[in-house]
Amino acid sequence: MLRFGASHFVVLLVAAISVAQAVKIEVHGKDNTTCIYAVLSVNFTVLYEGNGTMENATFQLPDSLSSNGSTCGGNNSAPLLNMGFGTGHSLSLNFSHTDGKFSGDVLTFTYNTSDAKLFPGAKNKSVKHVAVNSLMEPVPLNTIYTCRSVRAIASEAVVMVFWHVGIQAFVENGTISKNESFCKADVSTTVSPVTTQTTSTVTPIPTKPPPDLPAVGNYTVKNGSDPCLLANMGLQLNITNTENQIHVININSNSTASGRCGDKHSVLLLEDTDATIQFHFFVEQSKFFLKEVQANVSLLVNGSTTTLNSSNGNLKYWQAFVGSSYICRNEQRLVVTDKLAINTFNVWLQPFEVKNGTFSRAEECSLDDDSILIPIIVGAALAGLIVIVVIAYVIGRRRSYAGYQTL
Ligand SMILES: *[C@@H]1O[C@H](CO)[C@@H](O)[C@H](O)[C@H]1NC(C)=O
Ligand SMILES: *[C@@H]1O[C@H](CO)[C@@H](O)[C@H](O)[C@H]1NC(C)=O
Ligand SMILES: *[C@@H]1O[C@H](CO)[C@@H](O)[C@H](O)[C@H]1NC(C)=O
Ligand SMILES: *[C@@H]1O[C@H](CO)[C@@H](O)[C@H](O)[C@H]1NC(C)=O
Ligand SMILES: *[C@@H]1O[C@H](CO)[C@@H](O)[C@H](O)[C@H]1NC(C)=O
Ligand SMILES: *[C@@H]1O[C@H](CO)[C@@H](O)[C@H](O)[C@H]1NC(C)=O
Ligand SMILES: *[C@@H]1O[C@H](CO)[C@@H](O)[C@H](O)[C@H]1NC(C)=O
Ligand SMILES: *[C@@H]1O[C@H](CO)[C@@H](O)[C@H](O)[C@H]1NC(C)=O
Ligand SMILES: *[C@@H]1O[C@H](CO)[C@@H](O)[C@H](O)[C@H]1NC(C)=O
Ligand SMILES: *[C@@H]1O[C@H](CO)[C@@H](O)[C@H](O)[C@H]1NC(C)=O
Ligand SMILES: *[C@@H]1O[C@H](CO)[C@@H](O)[C@H](O)[C@H]1NC(C)=O
Ligand SMILES: *[C@@H]1O[C@H](CO)[C@@H](O)[C@H](O)[C@H]1NC(C)=O
Repeated sequence: MLRFGASHFVVLLVAAISVAQAVKIEVHGKDNTTCIYAVLSVNFTVLYEGNGTMENATFQLPDSLSSNGSTCGGNNSAPLLNMGFGTGHSLSLNFSHTDGKFSGDVLTFTYNTSDAKLFPGAKNKSVKHVAVNSLMEPVPLNTIYTCRSVRAIASEAVVMVFWHVGIQAFVENGTISKNESFCKADVSTTVSPVTTQTTSTVTPIPTKPPPDLPAVGNYTVKNGSDPCLLANMGLQLNITNTENQIHVININSNSTASGRCGDKHSVLLLEDTDATIQFHFFVEQSKFFLKEVQANVSLLVNGSTTTLNSSNGNLKYWQAFVGSSYICRNEQRLVVTDKLAINTFNVWLQPFEVKNGTFSRAEECSLDDDSILIPIIVGAALAGLIVIVVIAYVIGRRRSYAGYQTL
């Protein structure tokens, strides 16, 4: 009974969360196949002249959008995504492609200050346009551009804050790609500053040079001549030395891999010139996971070489069922100790039951899949509710207990 009730509640909550979060819109071509797909969340702040004072209108891109005016494009016209809302407002983006990449060209926000709901007391009632061309950098065709990070774009009187963005134009065969091209802000390990642009001219926003990302190495451990552990991944160590300085070290993708394989415990040992790292994988209840990391790294601190040894045997990262592989395209930060974290990129690994030297069916990490992330949020909300119910129950009991005493 309880389960039944709970599952219904989950469904409702999911709907509520997705309503509050991202808006989804698709543009269909002649044969009804999708040619542009977009999910996004936008907060607008518009400065306008009110009754004697300047006012800020703040509102979100609503759920109920009209795709009227959108087009898939043709020989002489670019695809255009037009999201109309309210009374005469719209956000539009046209697309271009060259050299196997597509990008958003000009993002235009049109607003109508005669809408008294959004712009109460506006002195000049008129339609205004703001155009910028900095929403998305070029990404390969047949991938979906995603940017979960918050990004603010300011132009003239308008500030638009975007987050949870996914966009694919030039969709082939009407199938939205499963391959994501992450925006720089999502990939870079440092939290990117909110970049603002204050002109409406067509200039690319200045971006920091992206941090050097580690190359993906394909590491194999063999049992005799048979591969028994496979790990394709890019690794970056983030080390805090005794002087509290931070060293970010990319592991060479040519590092030598060795190790051993067992039924319940497998080890991958990577040796780079300055670092050796051991990854210990264990099996518990038919799932494998990364339980232990041991790292020895030589660092140059104040002109002398010191070695930092870090290990933690109580981890639980990279879980999947034995017999399958584990895949995570997103960057992950594996905290090992307070001195060492490992940033991992494009992880695909299988430490047990490798058949024929190839990866088995892959289980994706939760980060890659929002449909998993949302239940986690919901789960957390439910857990909170349960705590509240328990507290209420305890208080209730105390009260009634106190009541008996006074009798
Ligand atoms: C396209 O989709 C609309 C509504 O989704 C439907 O009414 C229409 O019949 C479809 N047309 C074709 C050609 O499939
Ligand atoms: C967007 O606006 C809503 C409501 O005004 C606010 O709760 C939310 O934090 C804002 N999000 C961002 C990323 O600014
Ligand atoms: C504008 O403000 C003045 C004084 O603050 C007030 O008397 C007047 O009624 C306001 N007009 C409108 C249209 O709100
Ligand atoms: C309007 O918002 C902008 C940006 O958030 C802020 O700098 C400005 O002070 C606000 N103006 C008013 C009148 O609230
Ligand atoms: C779409 O736009 C056209 C002209 O721009 C207009 O005639 C039509 O009514 C609009 N349709 C909807 C559903 O808004
Ligand atoms: C686009 O051009 C091709 C040949 O270059 C032609 O066959 C096709 O009909 C054109 N499509 C449109 C919509 O004009
Ligand atoms: C996108 O639209 C803008 C104006 O709205 C135009 O200047 C630009 O050329 C368009 N881009 C493409 C690729 O058609
Ligand atoms: C689209 O379909 C064609 C022919 O069926 C196929 O060759 C192509 O790979 C497909 N593209 C994608 C992205 O699925
Ligand atoms: C390294 O870790 C520190 C704190 O632990 C963090 O502030 C920094 O952003 C990290 N840098 C990278 C590249 O991961
Ligand atoms: C590593 O493996 C991946 C996937 O199996 C493959 O696409 C890639 O080419 C390999 N890289 C090297 C350097 O062998
Ligand atoms: C890895 O080895 C290959 C061939 O041995 C070499 O071409 C490549 O430059 C090496 N990469 C690095 C990062 O050292
Ligand atoms: C193993 O791979 C070889 C060549 O790639 C293939 O011929 C063979 O059928 C595979 N065996 C199994 C059990 O998948």
